[in-house]
Amino acid sequence: MKWHRKDLLDLQSLSVEEIQTVLDTAREFKAVGERHIKKVPALRGKTVVTLFVEPSTRTRISFELAAHRLSADVINFNAEVSSLRKGETLKDTARNLEALNADFIVIRHSAAGAPHFLSRVLGAHVVNAGDGAHEHPTQGLLDLFTMREKKGRLAGLQVTILGDILYSRVARSNIWGLRKLGAEVTLCGPPTLVPRTFEAMGCRVVHDLHQAIADADVINLLRIQHERQRKSAFPGLGEYTHLFGITRSRLADTKPDVLIMHPGPINRGVEVDSDVADGERSVILEQVTNGLAIRMAALYLINGGKATTPGAN
Ligand code: CP
Repeated sequence: MKWHRKDLLDLQSLSVEEIQTVLDTAREFKAVGERHIKKVPALRGKTVVTLFVEPSTRTRISFELAAHRLSADVINFNAEVSSLRKGETLKDTARNLEALNADFIVIRHSAAGAPHFLSRVLGAHVVNAGDGAHEHPTQGLLDLFTMREKKGRLAGLQVTILGDILYSRVARSNIWGLRKLGAEVTLCGPPTLVPRTFEAMGCRVVHDLHQAIADADVINLLRIQHERQRKSAFPGLGEYTHLFGITRSRLADTKPDVLIMHPGPINRGVEVDSDVADGERSVILEQVTNGLAIRMAALYLINGGKATTPGAN
């Protein structure tokens, strides 16, 4: 299929075909990453600016590496020493970057909708690298890619997302993508962080851990997003870990081939014990590797790159 979007803002608005196109294109870029020469000229002459106004390790570095691998010029905007600190607005900041010939603005911001706003006021391509608790589309795509690669399919897969769903942009992007591609999604965590309103997105909501993990093919763990919670949503981290933390003994209650996933950063000993995070069922670091291929695919397609023929899911 031909890719028509100027921007990548969310998974809510992507079609099944568009999601499959990104996944299939990423598979090709993953193969490129395994070659001796890992660079391709697709974005030669283009400039990519990573405008991160919230902390990041994985997403920022992998977008920068993806742009380098596509032969673009890459600028890392440092919000801490920028004129945002002097009161310049986000719109003015982005328009000045565009005046400096930025072709792509990859933005992470604490305000939900910030990338959508920039998309309307800029001619440059805008890529959402996480906006508040709204969406994190490339994380959702890399999670879908990893599940499909490991399990061979998404349709019919039983995926449990465990933890702080309410404040999680990763959860929302996963839910949109997984439901569109036919996976069954169970959400689990404390009732204050996993309200039944998520059932409207086509998910099963349960508050009992055993019920949530017994039949899961994938358990995607989320950390508690303290930075977005206005008040504590449960009595304490010890209580959370006691009720919902994934330990090796709790894995005994799961399918023997369950995948353990986590978008990072991990809070070891809280949502997951180290021997599970680093254990044989964990694909957490493979998710990071796949994130590079997904971000190469996203930049390439948005730039007008020829999409591959979507394969069967
Ligand atoms: N998964 C994720 O978004 O990680 P970073 O915050 O390190 O980018």
